[in-house]
Amino acid sequence: MSSPTMRELLRGLEVFAGELPGFDPGAAPDDPVDLFTDWLLHAIGAGVPEPHAMTLSTADGDGEPSARMLILKDVSPRGLQFASHSGSRKGRDIAQHPYAAMTFYWPAQARQVRVRGRVSPASPADSAADFLARGAAARAEALLGQQSRPLTDLPAREAAVKESLAAIDRDPGLVAPGWTLYNLRAEQAEFWQGDRDRNHTRLNYRRVDGAWEKELLWP
Ligand SMILES: Cc1cc2nc3c(=O)[nH]c(=O)nc-3n(C[C@H](O)[C@H](O)[C@H](O)COP(=O)(O)O)c2cc1C
Repeated sequence: MSSPTMRELLRGLEVFAGELPGFDPGAAPDDPVDLFTDWLLHAIGAGVPEPHAMTLSTADGDGEPSARMLILKDVSPRGLQFASHSGSRKGRDIAQHPYAAMTFYWPAQARQVRVRGRVSPASPADSAADFLARGAAARAEALLGQQSRPLTDLPAREAAVKESLAAIDRDPGLVAPGWTLYNLRAEQAEFWQGDRDRNHTRLNYRRVDGAWEKELLWP
């Protein structure tokens, strides 16, 4: 028997498997931050690996999109926070066009959350606090300050990381210039609950004149 083609292999993979949680959009809270927090805690409690990993999508000044995985740093009534280098591609995109989209997916619950909104940098003190809360290796890497630039000399990177670690040793309060905590203030948030029988539920929140409006969307 010949081995399956990639198309066959992909078609045979299961999605939305297992026991899925219910979702009653009629009982959803008025504020999407509350529902997001509830779903995130559910994913954490259920042991979803890296439930705080999400895709951050940005666009540059010409509208060219880019997406990459990031770690969610916090959720508060002000918004959803992430941290990165202001000189990276995403940092440059945000400087040109201060809007982004976040996408979360928790497979064990067949839940997707999509959030769009305006992005603004936190204060330098908050960015420094985020930086200093990172482990030494992550700080050493970030101190290089080269994120998203071409790397032409691998040994040079190793030497630079060693140098960074030594600098942190000498001064544990060292903060990478450009390390920035960003806040995304949601203007729209969609909660998607998958269903084995494909009766997926989509609840969309839109900020209208400062208040949240809810609507269902066709799946
Ligand atoms: C699971 C995961 C989490 C990540 N978390 C971060 C993060 O919190 N901050 C960050 O700058 N890069 C993070 N990265 C690396 C980014 O995906 C990306 O490679 C880097 O930020 C450069 O992106 P850019 O060139 O689009 O700016 C993470 C990667 C993965 C796979």
